[in-house]
Amino acid sequence: MNLPVKPVVLLGFMGSGKSTLGKQLAALLGWDFIDLDRFIETHENRSIPEIFNQDGEATFRKIESIALQKVLAYNCQVIALGGGAPCQPENLKLIKEKSLSVYLKISETQLFIRLAYSNTPRPLLNGKSESETQTFIADLLTAREPFYDQADIIIESDTITPEMVLSKL
Ligand code: S3P
Repeated sequence: MNLPVKPVVLLGFMGSGKSTLGKQLAALLGWDFIDLDRFIETHENRSIPEIFNQDGEATFRKIESIALQKVLAYNCQVIALGGGAPCQPENLKLIKEKSLSVYLKISETQLFIRLAYSNTPRPLLNGKSESETQTFIADLLTAREPFYDQADIIIESDTITPEMVLSKL
C-alpha cells in the first residue's frame, strides 16, 4: 500500500479509543506514535488534571495549541489528540493543512459506558454524577461534532480496529 505522506491524526471525543488505536496503527505502519496529552505532560512536567487545576482550561488550551503545532511538524507518525484539540478553529485549520485526519466516531451510548468505567482522570468529567455525565456528553458532543465531522476520514463504529483505520488511509 501507499503510505500517507502526512502524519495521521486521530481525533474524536474522550473515550473514543484514540490512544489505544493510535499505538496499534503506528505499529502497523512502522511509524512513531505521539499522544498529544502525554507530550504536553512531559513538556510541562505535570499532569493534565494539574494543569487544569493550577491554571484553568483556557491556559490548557493555549498549551495544547502550541504542542499541536510542534507535533504536526513531522511526518511518519500517528498522533492521538485530546478530545477538545480540533475544536478550536485555528487548530482545526492546522490539522487540515498538515495531516491526514481520522475521526473515530463512536456512539454516544458507547462513549458514556466507556467514560463511566474509565480510570483515566478527566478534568471535564470531575465530580459529575452519572446523569450529569450523560447530559454533559450529549451536549459537548453536539457542540463538537461540527469540528470532528471535518476530518478527512470518518470511521463510524463502536468496534473500530487498527486494520479498519489502515484500510481507509
Ligand atoms: C479533553 C480531553 C482529554 C484531555 C483533556 C481535555 C477534552 O483527552 O485532552 O482532559 O476537552 O475533551 P482525551 O480525549 O484523550 O480524554
